[in-house]
Amino acid sequence: MSAAADAAGVRLTGVKKWYGQVPAVRDVSLGIEPGEMVCLLGPSGCGKTTTLRMVAGLENPDAGEIRIGSTLVNGLAPWKRNLGMVFQNYALFPHMTVFENVAFGLNMRRLPAAEVRRQVDAAMAQVRLAAFGERRPSELSGGQRQRIALARAIVTKPSVLLLDEPLAALDKKLREQMQVEIKQLQRQVGVTTIFVTHDQEEALTLSDRIVVMDEGRIVQIGTPSEVYERPRSRFVSDFIGFTNSVSGRVNSIDGAFTRVTIASGQVVTVPSGAGIAAGDAVDLVIRPEKIVVDPTGLVDRSVIPGTLAHMVYTGAVTYYHVDIGGGAILIAMAPNPDLHDLPALGSPVALGFKPDNMLIFPRRAES
Ligand SMILES: Nc1ncnc2c1ncn2[C@@H]1O[C@H](COP(=O)(O)OP(=O)(O)O)[C@@H](O)[C@H]1O
Ligand SMILES: [Mg+2]
Repeated sequence: MSAAADAAGVRLTGVKKWYGQVPAVRDVSLGIEPGEMVCLLGPSGCGKTTTLRMVAGLENPDAGEIRIGSTLVNGLAPWKRNLGMVFQNYALFPHMTVFENVAFGLNMRRLPAAEVRRQVDAAMAQVRLAAFGERRPSELSGGQRQRIALARAIVTKPSVLLLDEPLAALDKKLREQMQVEIKQLQRQVGVTTIFVTHDQEEALTLSDRIVVMDEGRIVQIGTPSEVYERPRSRFVSDFIGFTNSVSGRVNSIDGAFTRVTIASGQVVTVPSGAGIAAGDAVDLVIRPEKIVVDPTGLVDRSVIPGTLAHMVYTGAVTYYHVDIGGGAILIAMAPNPDLHDLPALGSPVALGFKPDNMLIFPRRAES
């Protein structure tokens, strides 16, 4: 990580915020390294925006401390925090040109005109809109407006960049393209960045680390692959898209290994999970891409037999819905082979998986 000279770390310690009777942020402690890009990820209402607004100084915490670099910023006005901000609806000033919008923060600092011009031109080149200075915001597309908002946010060389769902209004293809651009820009500039999103793919694409939140609390912090491969709770596994779940009961636990009898009556061995005892009702979850249909010749796989009940062809990949008995379906996903290799519906198939990829969680009450 190449942090810019003025990139600052951010530290939240025991931060809480209530709106009347509503606990928006219950107890958040989080350290972000200088130059790091962190996404706050979680469902709507979990406290992401409130957390970001407290870092920005737009809300005051009811408890706890917020530090930017070594400075305790509780109570410090937003404009004294040296931040850049982009929000979903952070409107550009409509009566100003694009150039004037980007120049705004520099003009406030009373920089000489030639210096303003140089820095604005550099920021607009960084967002690949060098030729757009004389346009009005109304003459730009949604994606271009957000790029200008980004240029305006970075032109003052902030120590921390705060982004709240800045791509939410864009269509999927543009959003994916902008995610890559923002990540590259962030690397280039080296600015410490906090990015709020409810979209797990966006968080995986952008983050050095993902902070998963639920009901005003942090429930997991980790690199994209840690959060994706090793969700620590059923909430995180669901949120991050583990779509397969098979219920069972713990048969026996032998140190690192737990034997679970699943609905079909078969016994499956999985890595032991925290807080799970013999006799417990559990759910086993696994990602479709971690299951191989017909694992012949692969070693170290557990195998569950079943019948191919349904196939969903999506072009690049096919999802195989396999009835494994006892009313349970497991879905395997694989890149598409040549068409003649597809098994026929109703045929017997074997599903193979590495035990490590099967996670075990306490059975969730049906809602
Ligand atoms: N200004 C406000 N007044 C009252 N309640 C609020 C206000 N802002 C947020 N909340 C509540 O605080 C909780 C967290 O909201 P928010 O931080 O906006 O979540 P997120 O950004 O994760 O969707 C929600 O229950 C929301 O309804
Ligand atoms: Mg929000």
